[in-house]
Amino acid sequence: MLIELKNVKKYYRTGKLNVKALDGVDLSVEGGEFLAIMGPSGSGKSTLLNIIGCLDKPTEGEYILNGKNVERLNDDELSEIRNNYIGFVFQTFHLLPEYDALFNVEIPLIYRGISARERKERAEAALEAVGLKERMKHKPLELSGGEQQRVAIARALVQEPLLILADEPTGALDSKTGNSIMELFCRLNEEKNLTIILVTHDEKMARYGKRVVHILDGRIESITLN
Ligand SMILES: Nc1ncnc2c1ncn2[C@@H]1O[C@H](COP(=O)(O)OP(=O)(O)OP(=O)(O)O)[C@@H](O)[C@H]1O
Ligand SMILES: [Mg+2]
Repeated sequence: MLIELKNVKKYYRTGKLNVKALDGVDLSVEGGEFLAIMGPSGSGKSTLLNIIGCLDKPTEGEYILNGKNVERLNDDELSEIRNNYIGFVFQTFHLLPEYDALFNVEIPLIYRGISARERKERAEAALEAVGLKERMKHKPLELSGGEQQRVAIARALVQEPLLILADEPTGALDSKTGNSIMELFCRLNEEKNLTIILVTHDEKMARYGKRVVHILDGRIESITLN
């Protein structure tokens, strides 16, 4: 099993208010799955994704990622896991506006000390995989929203992660462009057997997942298969 969450709870204390963002989540995800996490605003979707992505730790419960017990790891070990295993895609694309698509995709590899030549080759291959080979030299503002999101997906792919985590990746796109991004995720999942976990509040987007986890008030309400 790639991911195992056991009775995961996440509490936030702000002033006198204690918010139970996650209230006992049990979830297992196998390698190669395409999972959608669906639920209304404030239900705990991003909190859950951030814990899966080792950006945050549970208040209580157990999280085992690829056989490693995450709560025992220190900050350096967590950032190593993020860099080596996990590609993130967000609603807003988080590209650097002053650099072209190619360089934006190379960035994760710079942090890993990979040579300039290998960086360029791998970034080109990742941009080709998302259908953007012809736009490599364009800066983000010279690309459409859907193309910018493809660059962000290429940047997540370039480090050959075990897992892609996407939080509302189509939230800033019109529905046609959103659908094409979801089709890209489907293709990557099928062709590369890449594990994808996607958060959305849009039922139409959740339909692309092979399994849908419905979350409400920090708890899993139901799990359905598409
Ligand atoms: N850093 C924080 N401090 C305090 N409360 C927080 C924090 N982050 C999230 N929460 C609360 O935890 C709950 C779950 O938030 P979360 O961001 O996971 O929801 P979400 O399902 O992603 O919502 P949305 O669809 O609006 O993005 C909410 O009630 C939110 O107010
Ligand atoms: Mg959210």
